[in-house]
Amino acid sequence: MISRRNFLAAVSAAVAARAMIPPFSIATQVPDVLVPGKAGMIVRSVRFLDLEMPPEFFGSWLTPVPHFFVRNHMHEPSTLDAGQWRLLIDGEVDKPLNLSLDGLRKLESRTITNTLECAGNGRAFQQPQVPGVQWQRGAVGTARFAGPRLRDVLQLAGVKATGRHVMFRGLDEIPGKVPPFIRSIPIEKAMDSDTLIATRMNGAPLARHHGFPARALVPGWIGAASCKWLTEIKVLDREFDGNFMKPGYRMPNQRIAPGGDVNPDDTHPLTSLNVKSVIATPKEGSSIQGRSLRIEGAAWAGEAGITRVEVSTDSGTTWRAARLGDEQARYSWRLWEYRWQAPNPGEFTILSRATDDQGRTQPQSAAWNPSGYLYNAIDQVKVHVLA
Ligand code: MTE
Repeated sequence: MISRRNFLAAVSAAVAARAMIPPFSIATQVPDVLVPGKAGMIVRSVRFLDLEMPPEFFGSWLTPVPHFFVRNHMHEPSTLDAGQWRLLIDGEVDKPLNLSLDGLRKLESRTITNTLECAGNGRAFQQPQVPGVQWQRGAVGTARFAGPRLRDVLQLAGVKATGRHVMFRGLDEIPGKVPPFIRSIPIEKAMDSDTLIATRMNGAPLARHHGFPARALVPGWIGAASCKWLTEIKVLDREFDGNFMKPGYRMPNQRIAPGGDVNPDDTHPLTSLNVKSVIATPKEGSSIQGRSLRIEGAAWAGEAGITRVEVSTDSGTTWRAARLGDEQARYSWRLWEYRWQAPNPGEFTILSRATDDQGRTQPQSAAWNPSGYLYNAIDQVKVHVLA
């Protein structure tokens, strides 16, 4: 396993390159960085590793771990020893527990296929621009997560009647005086039989970047709910009161004008993901030889299911149904495709929009908010069809 020191040495050239980015621009990408085990990913940050999946890796229903995006708010733990690792369950419980990895493995394991999306995915498309990691389409991936149900562990500890929220703490190394990445979820979601303490991803132990040896898996919810490198699960009598619950990861209660201000007391915490589709192929700005196009992408809707994806090849005047892929599972994206014969050579704008089983359809423009969360406007790519 690579240490943080080695990792930082490996990326020092990239940091030097980054220093050449003019200070007035919002840095969108760190060039020429090789992250071991993550070849081909778009590097959005190296100080705290943030890797985006490029559109060409969307084609697989289960995202291979090397292509799965990484989002870290702080340094990853530099040492992780599975033998020494313990998970403390405490707070509003009758019997606090201190579980080893072997202890966790003795509990019944459940597998959930989940599309994990960062709440900031698509932030780069918000107008006006907002600060934060400038994710485009690929801060999202789908994997099979397995491990014991969080509910079973909480029941072993015995949740008191006062238990209302469940807080997760990870082993991140905290730089300086910044607040730790600690968040909580309501007890109802914690007790849902699909919420896991995941120890495996796509059939293998979790990789270090994805939370080895154990992470929370809160299916259908924003990625931030699924705390990595778990070390403590604490039952609280109220929502956790910390930076990453408030002001972080909240949406305004009312739609606000793009660029407008938000009163933090008039917001609510983010939970389930939005209905959304993205176009993976063709890529934005590509030139295509021949008039036959295969338009492909993925669509997801958090806790809801995708019922329809439509494509427009005339800038939104007419829409036709895309074919949904056969592979599906609750909380997972559907891959889709649409074959199209361009009527003539020229410039075309291709759009995709998804609808879910709650009757939600992707909007023309996303609800602007100062952190650029839950961007889900109809996706579009411009292409040039040659001859
Ligand atoms: N857990 C810890 N301990 N520290 C983090 O920085 N990032 C969260 C979440 N869990 C984070 C964390 C966010 S914002 C996201 S989107 C997901 O992890 C990303 O999971 P991944 O890196 O496995 O894709």
